[in-house]
Amino acid sequence: MAEPAKPQATTVYLYELAWILPSIAIPVGMLVALVVTAFGVGVHVPSVAGRVDPTKVAQTPPFDQPGLVQVGPGRYEARMVAGIWTFAPNEIRVPAGSSVTFVITSRDLVHGLMVHKANVNVMVLPGQVARVTGRFDRPGEYPMICHEYCGVGHHTMWGKVVVE
Ligand code: CUA
Repeated sequence: MAEPAKPQATTVYLYELAWILPSIAIPVGMLVALVVTAFGVGVHVPSVAGRVDPTKVAQTPPFDQPGLVQVGPGRYEARMVAGIWTFAPNEIRVPAGSSVTFVITSRDLVHGLMVHKANVNVMVLPGQVARVTGRFDRPGEYPMICHEYCGVGHHTMWGKVVVE
């Protein structure tokens, strides 16, 4: 029986290189993507957009009048209050091609707001104002749900954005 051929030194070297190079290139590529999206494109995780006394949400503008306000051509602001177990308002209607900035806080405990298929996903914390903008180009219904467990009625806490 013939012995298996011994690998050449250069073969081993190339094989190692084939692993080493991607292991450097992939993290470098990820870092570049992170820097470009954060500083070049301005993509950020939604952060605290303001503070509000959670016991006085109903008296504090703009949350004393929850609803949809047009702030420019094709631009809307949805002023919302989350509470067990509803969103106020729980239905928003906008024409197709609109961008909607959700300004939302909680009047009781920790909730979340996620609008399906619209890249809207924020934590809604008492005392904090969250602000996030989504685009609605295609007509249809976009469910908005609470994605933080907030008690026995959590699963009933939902609404929708209707794009006409
Ligand atoms: Cu509110 Cu879950």
